Parts: sequence; structure tokens; C-alpha cells
Amino acid sequence: MPTVLILGAGSDMAIAIAKKFAAEKYNIQLAARNSTRLQPLQSDLAIRYDISASLHEFDAEKTEGHASFYASLPVKPDITICVFGYLGDQKLAETDWKECHRTIQVNYTGAVSILNIVANDYAAKSAGIIAGISSVAGERGRQSNYFYGSAKAGFTAYLSGMRNRLFHHKVHVLSVQPGFVYTRMTEGMPLPKPLTAKPEEVANAIYKAVLKKKNVIYVKWFWRWIMLIIKSIPEPIFKKLKL
Ligand SMILES: NC(=O)c1ccc[n+]([C@@H]2O[C@H](COP(=O)([O-])OP(=O)(O)OC[C@H]3O[C@@H](n4cnc5c(N)ncnc54)[C@H](OP(=O)(O)O)[C@@H]3O)[C@@H](O)[C@H]2O)c1
Repeated sequence: MPTVLILGAGSDMAIAIAKKFAAEKYNIQLAARNSTRLQPLQSDLAIRYDISASLHEFDAEKTEGHASFYASLPVKPDITICVFGYLGDQKLAETDWKECHRTIQVNYTGAVSILNIVANDYAAKSAGIIAGISSVAGERGRQSNYFYGSAKAGFTAYLSGMRNRLFHHKVHVLSVQPGFVYTRMTEGMPLPKPLTAKPEEVANAIYKAVLKKKNVIYVKWFWRWIMLIIKSIPEPIFKKLKL
């Protein structure tokens, strides 16, 4: 049975991804902060889907521990899915470096740190699939979330470059660009229903994209075209908008 490592396994999206892959008979490694709180999920996956599920302690910000975290995995995963992220408080981050730095650290530096280690292992083996959840917020900076957006922009470019590098080692890299998704991150936000995906839709889209070795997916699909329109607004007009 192949194994999937899920980084940031406590998020709503990650839980949906874990359930989808477990249902398709993958063993699941759940990596998160305070991972013992995920014991109910671990047992549920193992019993319901008759697979092996394990818990692993992982903090994206503690980059010094990433090599030992990966080395300690009892089985090296066939697929690694990087789900963790931190929206942060944009207003606070404008004046508070700690908040700004954390936003960059979780969404960019932490992701690059752990995925470099996975990429080198997969390149050496000439096998493996890496999926990274970035965001459409990275496609154009807006006043309402440009710290998060710029870190995701960096992550999107990183995934693209890594896909190019690892293609020559028979390793596949998938970039996932969600628009709005109903999760803890967006709780209480007035999200437009027709534009907003459920975590299960993201999970299904990732599963299909992994099978088909897609390079970049948008969830929901039409976000590709929404972002194309947003990116085509001339800067003299764009800068005057309250977005
Ligand atoms: N929701 C959306 O509309 C949306 C849209 C586009 C992209 N995304 C991206 O989708 C991914 C999943 O987010 P979500 O919507 O499911 O949000 P979420 O429920 O808030 O999940 C974020 C997850 O990231 C984890 N995390 C934060 N800092 C971490 C750290 N230092 N080390 C390890 N894990 C850390 C959190 O862990 P704890 O459980 O320990 O707090 C949490 O499980 C993120 O990358 C997000 O940026 C979301």
C-alpha cells in the first residue's frame, strides 16, 4: 500500500484529504503540531478504511527540526502533501514584525524547508509526488492580505521551479490553487457561496490531479479565469480599488 504524508494534518482541508486517500487505500501519515490531538482521526481512518495511520509531530516554523522529522518517519512517503498555512492578521502585521514574519515563515520559509528535504529524497530515488497547497491570493497582491499573498506567491513560484527540476528525476509536483474554501481559516467571513469550495471538493480534486499527474489545478476550476481577469486589470486602476 502506498503512503501519503500530510503536513499540517489538523486543518479541515487536510482531514478531507486524509479521508479521501485512506478511502482509496493509501496509508496515512498525519504530521501536525500537538499531533496527539489527532488520535481520534487516526483511529477513525485506520478502522473505517482498514489502512495504517500514524501521527508525527511537525511544526513548520521550527525549520531546524525538519531534517530529523523526515528522517524519523518509519516509512518514507510515496506522496507528500503540504497543506499547512497561516492567513495571519494583515492589519496587525503592518506594524508588528512578529506577525508579519510568522506569516512569511509558515507559508513560505517553513514549506520550502521541509519540501527541500522531501525533494532531495525523491530525486535520489527517482520516484515520488509532491503536492503543495498555495493560494490564488498569491497571484496579485491586494491591500487586504498582501503579506499572506506574497508568501503564497513565493510558494507558487517555488513549486513551479521544483516541478521543472524534479521532472528530470521522474518526480511529479502538483500546485494547488484554491480560491475560497469553507474552513477554520475563513470562518466568519462573508464568502460568496457559488465561488466557495468545500474541503471535500479540494480533496477530490487533489486526488484526481495526483492520479492524472496534473501540474496546476484551481479549486473551484473557474478561479483560473477569475484570476486571469483580476491580473489583467491595469495597475493604475487596480491600485485605486479597495480589495
Ligand atoms: N480556506 C481558504 O479559503 C483557503 C484558500 C486558499 C488557500 N488556502 C490554503 O489551504 C491550506 C489549508 O488551510 P485551511 O483553509 O484548511 O485552514 P486552517 O484550517 O486554518 O488550516 C491551517 C493549518 O495550518 C496549520 N499550521 C499553521 N501554522 C503551522 C505551523 N507552524 N506548523 C504546522 N502547521 C501549522 C494549522 O495547524 P493547527 O491545527 O496546529 O493550528 C492548521 O491545521 C493552507 O495552506 C491555506 O493557506 C486556504
